[in-house]
Amino acid sequence: MKPAIAPIWSRLGAAAETLRGRHLRDLFAADDGRFTALSTSWQGWLLDYSKQRIDADAMSLLTDLWRAADLPGWILRMRDGEAINHTERRAALHIALRHPASKGPILHAGQDVMPAVHAELEKVRRFCAEVHGRHWRGATGEPISDVVNIGIGGSDLGPRMATQALMAFRHPDLRVHYVANLDAADLATTLAALQPRTTLFIIASKTFTTQETMQNAASARAWLVQALGEAAVARHFVAVSTNLAEVARFGIDPANAFAFWDWVGGRYSLWSAIGLPLALAVGFDNFEKLLAGAHAMDEHFFTAPPHQNLPGLLALLEIWNTNFLGADTRALLPYSQSLGLLPRYLQQLEMESNGKPVDRQGQPLDHAVAPILWGEPGTNGQHAFYQLIHQGGRLIPCEFIACREPDFDLPGHHARLLANCFAQGEALMRGRTVAETTAELLAGGMAADEAARLAPFRSFPGNQPSTTLLLPRLDPHNLGALIALYEHKVFAESVIWDINPFDQWGVEYGKQLASRLLPIIEGRAAATGLDSSTTGLIAWSHAAAKRS
Ligand code: F6P
Repeated sequence: MKPAIAPIWSRLGAAAETLRGRHLRDLFAADDGRFTALSTSWQGWLLDYSKQRIDADAMSLLTDLWRAADLPGWILRMRDGEAINHTERRAALHIALRHPASKGPILHAGQDVMPAVHAELEKVRRFCAEVHGRHWRGATGEPISDVVNIGIGGSDLGPRMATQALMAFRHPDLRVHYVANLDAADLATTLAALQPRTTLFIIASKTFTTQETMQNAASARAWLVQALGEAAVARHFVAVSTNLAEVARFGIDPANAFAFWDWVGGRYSLWSAIGLPLALAVGFDNFEKLLAGAHAMDEHFFTAPPHQNLPGLLALLEIWNTNFLGADTRALLPYSQSLGLLPRYLQQLEMESNGKPVDRQGQPLDHAVAPILWGEPGTNGQHAFYQLIHQGGRLIPCEFIACREPDFDLPGHHARLLANCFAQGEALMRGRTVAETTAELLAGGMAADEAARLAPFRSFPGNQPSTTLLLPRLDPHNLGALIALYEHKVFAESVIWDINPFDQWGVEYGKQLASRLLPIIEGRAAATGLDSSTTGLIAWSHAAAKRS
């Protein structure tokens, strides 16, 4: 741990001890001004964290971490294009991808990256205009009706999540599909409904070597070539990558390749040409609004003081819950069908970024980092796993997200959705004592002995912390700001935890072993030097293959 942080850390430990015996309902009862003190707003958004198990003293200590960890200095290092991803010797300049031309240069290795960023965006804009205007024709001269993005991880989750989030803004004449999984079921079921003549593939991969994407791309190519011949590839395949040499080797016309740069991490790449399928799905104007929203959040993160800084507050609250209350999980609960993929997207952003074992100096960490993030949109989750959150006896900080205005409106729906969202936060906070439950059962006409028998089952401990984030509406601008909010939350946490959020070495080992096992599974190499379990699994797969 950074030496400057240690004294604050131990005072936070003492603050957590003091608060341990206090129930959230008592904290609310003791202070009428709790909501006002522990909530903040920004551009019509509201962040209510008054239902966290926190008080003003602990909050003030948490905000002390901001300076002690030198967050302002790290923000400058990021903006100045320093190689803050030090294990890969790379900058992390995703903020440049949404930086307006009017706001001056952003330097990387002494060069302004903005001209290249805007040239590539212009290429995306022109391509969208061609496809939407039906000027881009397939090999048989027909316009494109379906786009299939083939990519995985950061080359899939961002545009996929945002395409669903912006369903209300979808282009009427174009369907956009996403294929990520190596399991052939993903590609095969997608292609089953499509015609090669009117289908355009985007092969999206930062490295252009990722096994899943390369296998799916090869199978998609074979599907197209079988129907339309080799010459059709140029009209039906485009690529987004930093590795343009590999793109050319795959047979994609370099004129149809969109570039980005090694200073953009995969899970931070939505704002680059990796957003092409999204721009096609919702139109380039809406994509630009998404970028503008993200930039607005960048400015807020860079300038707002910690107690008003939305990404900063979420980071500090997560640190409080993780490191001082002992939570090892966080439930992300958007009361929005359109934000249904947000938990999955944030799983990569948060857990791939901050699931790290050592600090920036390579020393084992002496504190916990990223909790396990999971979740589902409400109200569906209420009928699945909420039971455990209410009565399962575990500490599960919850993060509710809702919008004041619906993106799709049918009479009666939205008020009920909001009522459920707010009710869950209230129930988790208050709980219901055995005495309250008994009184309620008796008031409902239940016999006293039956009420006494049932009350323990029907009571709730409460004291489950939650945060509620309310947006005015789900539109491209607000979505851009929401995604950038979480990017900066992850960054702020990483600075305080003293870890590098921009590498992902843990993912590499599994990839390496899979490459070693493939020839054995395919029967091209002998299974030597493996543990008995792996040997047994491979033998089983061979026996199963012989039977079929
Ligand atoms: O899962 C590991 C990872 O390297 C992610 O960080 C990345 O987003 C994903 O693979 C896909 O990589 P690429 O865009 O290079 O195909």
